[in-house]
Amino acid sequence: MPDSTINWPELEQAARQAAANAYVPYSRFAVGAAILTADGRLFTGCNVENASYGLTNCAERTAIYAARAQANMQEVIAVCVYTPTASPTPPCGACRQVLNEFGPTMQVRLICNGEQSISTTLDHLLPGAFGPKNLR
Ligand code: THU
Repeated sequence: MPDSTINWPELEQAARQAAANAYVPYSRFAVGAAILTADGRLFTGCNVENASYGLTNCAERTAIYAARAQANMQEVIAVCVYTPTASPTPPCGACRQVLNEFGPTMQVRLICNGEQSISTTLDHLLPGAFGPKNLR
């Protein structure tokens, strides 16, 4: 889907709001993510940290898992990620891989507390990805 058909203001607001639910006692770095499915539904996620540190779940993966668990999401066409920073923050490698599973060419927008944003695509962030296509 072309970028122009996506309601970015709505996704951006949802990503910012989602960060309010972040569980971040260790990093104090509250992240929010909003995803738009191919059939027009919006889901959100926040990061949920853990005392073991390594079991922390990022906002992007929370959004994907919530959408799948709650609504049998099949395909994601766009994701917006908010970080509480002065400039946009790139998603971690684990989240790129998990996003790839449901939308290898999805639109990606990274927003922050500053004016700056980054608009890109998942295949640009994760070129040559391993995914479902490799197991068919
Ligand atoms: N984090 C996310 O939720 N998404 C990102 O794209 C980057 C990092 C979280 C994980 C951890 O809770 C905190 O930010 C600091 O790494």
